[in-house]
Amino acid sequence: MSKTFHITTFGCQMNEHDSEVMAGMLLEKGFEPVKERRDADVAIINTCSVRENADKRFFGTLGQLKRRKKENPDFVVCVCGCMMQQQHVIDTIKAKYPWVDIIFGTHNIHQFPELVDNALNEKKKQIEVWSDGGDIVEGLPAKRLYDCKALVNIMFGCNNFCTYCIVPYTRGRERSRQPEEIIKEVKSLAEDGVKEIMLLGQNVNSYRGDEQTDFARLLYRLNEIEGLERIRFMTSHPKDLSDRLIQAFVDCNKLCKNIHLPVQSGSSRVLKKMNRRYTKEQYLELVAKLKAAVPGITMSTDIIVGFPGETEEDFEETLDLVRKVRFDSAFTFLYSIRKGTPAEKYEDQVPEEVKHERFNRLVDLINTISAEKNGEYAGRVERVLVEGASKTNSKTFSGRTDGFKLVNFEGTKDMVGNLVDVEIIEGKTFSLDGRIVK
Ligand code: SAH
Ligand code: SF4
Ligand code: F3S
Repeated sequence: MSKTFHITTFGCQMNEHDSEVMAGMLLEKGFEPVKERRDADVAIINTCSVRENADKRFFGTLGQLKRRKKENPDFVVCVCGCMMQQQHVIDTIKAKYPWVDIIFGTHNIHQFPELVDNALNEKKKQIEVWSDGGDIVEGLPAKRLYDCKALVNIMFGCNNFCTYCIVPYTRGRERSRQPEEIIKEVKSLAEDGVKEIMLLGQNVNSYRGDEQTDFARLLYRLNEIEGLERIRFMTSHPKDLSDRLIQAFVDCNKLCKNIHLPVQSGSSRVLKKMNRRYTKEQYLELVAKLKAAVPGITMSTDIIVGFPGETEEDFEETLDLVRKVRFDSAFTFLYSIRKGTPAEKYEDQVPEEVKHERFNRLVDLINTISAEKNGEYAGRVERVLVEGASKTNSKTFSGRTDGFKLVNFEGTKDMVGNLVDVEIIEGKTFSLDGRIVK
């Protein structure tokens, strides 16, 4: 009988894609996926360390697995992902969760099948974490979450060292894949029926494949691939967003008119302390340029509330920027201290209650704007890539517009994976309701 596995994924699309690769490698070895973790022979937890609550959830999950491990000593527990790149986490696991079988990091995922074999056959504990990325390993299989869309790494790591952020320490320095490798992968995805790709990197604007190929050039080349319908990317750092990229939005018909452009704060003073290397004014100029060149472009952002030293005036600057840009949506985060980052040592930490109060004001403003912007869609016809049926109602299907708006509508199974025209009936805060255009 074949062995079964289950993967729990925390964190961003990088981790999501790493989990797809791990699933792909296990499938190649004849393992079978199961829906419930308690039915698996091998459980994998792919962790994130970006904020404190991500850490907490991981240790909560590990606690739950302890009993299962006691009942069945053959049950294999693997932990991986960004948290494993931090020595203090590995020390905690060794001390408090010694029954964990395999620990590996973000740089050596390709070794995963071998580690599993060793754990299963020799019943040996495996700890293998590389401190930095070696050469990029190409050609690993991946089991996609969706048939019609795929995540594609174009680069790994980050060189920016924003003072609050752990990612440069858990993902290492920037490394770009060769353009030929990316193009080969996307061509084969398109042949496999993939309509939409999401190009991944912590800062795609600093992609450098070779002498000729910067990020904009890569987009032009991917735009030529037959069968592919949509190209998205994330994340782009405002400090490196070039005029050539803005022009790519104009020239490349497959590039979706949508951009995720994390601003983090509207206060130039705070941005400086964050080491973001742009000012509020520069960010607003960039947004103006994008909106002028690409009419109707939708925008989302990330904002951190309560960075050390943030005053009420700084926070008002953030509200002002949000009112000026009018984001379609935004991810808002309470600042959370990360061990090993420069901001950990900043003394002027903002009190919890102040952070929460500002956070609520910001979310209210963002939601009001989202609802207003979505309201403007009523009566429009949008092309939607249908992703699947709703979990609660089998007649309701959902998908995304070119601008990344989530649309719910009544549909049929055969629409899944296809582009359909939907007339928008109503815009809500987080989604649009529509009906299929016959
Ligand atoms: N590379 C991307 C972001 C990766 S992390 C970029 O530069 O935009 C995703 C988001 O998590 C960040 O944009 C930031 O808003 C948030 N974040 C990162 N570290 C954080 C921290 N210590 N506390 C709160 N939010 C944080
Ligand atoms: Fe973190 Fe900044 Fe790098 Fe994004 S650009 S991953 S926020 S250090
Ligand atoms: Fe988390 Fe690592 Fe992504 S820290 S946000 S999973 S790069």
